[in-house]
Amino acid sequence: MADAATLLDVEGIETCYGLSQVLFGLSLAIKRGEMVSLMGRNGMGKTTTIRSIMGLTPARAGAIRFAGTEVRSLPSYRIAKLGIGLVPEGRQIFPNLTVRENLVAASANRLGASDPWTLDKIHALFPRLAERGANMGNQLSGGEQQMLAIGRALMTNPHLLILDEATEGLAPLIREEIWNCLSMLKARGQSILVIDKNVENLTRICDRHYIIERGRTVWSGSSADLMAEPGLQHRYLGI
Ligand SMILES: Nc1ncnc2c1ncn2[C@@H]1O[C@H](COP(=O)(O)OP(=O)(O)O)[C@@H](O)[C@H]1O
Ligand SMILES: [Mg+2]
Repeated sequence: MADAATLLDVEGIETCYGLSQVLFGLSLAIKRGEMVSLMGRNGMGKTTTIRSIMGLTPARAGAIRFAGTEVRSLPSYRIAKLGIGLVPEGRQIFPNLTVRENLVAASANRLGASDPWTLDKIHALFPRLAERGANMGNQLSGGEQQMLAIGRALMTNPHLLILDEATEGLAPLIREEIWNCLSMLKARGQSILVIDKNVENLTRICDRHYIIERGRTVWSGSSADLMAEPGLQHRYLGI
């Protein structure tokens, strides 16, 4: 699938934590403008896949090509600079910077986006962040922290936005706000890789899906394919 339309191509990666191997030849690919989900029960290797793509826990075998560059052996700051914005599990915003400082600190347009994100545009996407601009990161609710983490990733004008557990631990109304935001970003042409437990919303918004089990890709297909095989969800997601 390595043509010009391919943004990310992960091929047969193997990743270990010390002596413990977690990914066993995992593959996935994302085209430009696509929104793709990565599904699988807890502990199956979703976060490790993201960490491997970002170079935080480098894969020891396989290939990871991003926008035409082989990145598997690159340090993570270089991979991020190629245009990947990560919203990590647990948010990890800067607790002792204000909301505005968190956003401005991330601001960059290294790739020369024609219509780059600005503070005003982030505030239009999440009005709550405008109201909370002068508050410190550690004074925010979980939902506000997630909005800030998304806003911070967008301020780097990434080619690919990755969200690990997009709505985990958030109140229902905030979850809806996050899903609406993701729909808007997709409509704007943003390429997105998302992990979340809400299969209904993932099926509604994403183009394609990958299901992983014990570090291997066991299924991939479109939303229509996924809905046509309800047994999959029972078998691989425990739903
Ligand atoms: N830092 C780590 N050191 C050792 N094992 C880890 C570490 N992080 C995750 N694991 C193990 O790797 C496996 C996959 O974890 P993870 O990628 O976090 O799964 P998921 O995100 O799908 O829940 C699990 O068995 C987990 O216990
Ligand atoms: Mg995880």
